[in-house]
Amino acid sequence: MANVVTKAVIPAAGLGTRFLPATKAMPKEMLPVVDKPAIQYVVEEAVDAGLSDVLMITGRNKNALENHFDRATEIEATLERKGDTDRLEKVNYSTDLADMHYVRQGDPKGLGHAVLRAKMHVGNQPFAVLLGDDIIDSRDVLLKRMLEVQAGRNTTVVALLEVDPSQIHMYGAAAVETTDEDDVVRVTGLVEKPDADVAPSNLAIIGRYVLRPEVFEILERTEPGKGGEIQLTDALQEMAGDVEGTGGVYGVIFRGRRYDTGDRLDYIKAIVQLAVDREDLGPGLRPWLKAFASNLDSEKPATDNGH
Ligand code: UTP
Repeated sequence: MANVVTKAVIPAAGLGTRFLPATKAMPKEMLPVVDKPAIQYVVEEAVDAGLSDVLMITGRNKNALENHFDRATEIEATLERKGDTDRLEKVNYSTDLADMHYVRQGDPKGLGHAVLRAKMHVGNQPFAVLLGDDIIDSRDVLLKRMLEVQAGRNTTVVALLEVDPSQIHMYGAAAVETTDEDDVVRVTGLVEKPDADVAPSNLAIIGRYVLRPEVFEILERTEPGKGGEIQLTDALQEMAGDVEGTGGVYGVIFRGRRYDTGDRLDYIKAIVQLAVDREDLGPGLRPWLKAFASNLDSEKPATDNGH
């Protein structure tokens, strides 16, 4: 088994029901976060970590995803005619970003089922999985660190985030043991979406994984679990208990900024947090936001321009 990770897999075939009706005819991964679709941040992160071979798992209604990473000749011609090089650069950027491949999932039978669709493309080497609706702030390092840990230990690596115990029922929760590295733990067990009183910890699995290829064989025989879906967490649970065969599972504890754009409240927060730090938008947004926030606590109705 070659030990070097060169491929990224991005599952983006979910139905996005939490975002209906916006996602009735459009994938949630195409929702704009400021002025880029969520999926572009995710592909940029993969490329930035050295993984420019990207396989996207898509489904029905997902044509917009493929189109976004393809030429847009009509727009290009118009911008060229106008001499608008700035915008032309933005349009071309996502076209040239990565070596994109696509495979359809058919029925969205769960994240584990989506990952299994990558088997042919990935072959017998470790690979990264980045969930298409989960954004890691590019100023904070996660995937590169996970690849480093994977290379050092030759195991499967998951990303863990400490969440409030009241939130753990929305995630896979990990039972862990410390290691000699401050930000790395050994995962001894995993539970999908546990109630707070039975959760093994408040360390939640978030949408980045570096998987050893044995995961495919395990997923092939994984029965549908919670919600009737084939859960990646169930396969990881098996790998965590099989240190001899698969090297076990390690977790990198992430202490940076992460936005779950599949969740409406997190999506709104992501836009605000990313926009206030932008050179082009921050100076206009910050004073307005301050005035708006102070109006929230007073009797005054919020104005629409705040300054
Ligand atoms: P989610 O559970 O957040 O996606 O899956 P969902 O099912 O689309 O969301 P809701 O709950 O209905 O709103 C996490 C990631 O896994 C992908 C999703 O596209 C998302 O990026 N996924 C999920 C698949 O690719 N296939 C599936 O069958 C399920």
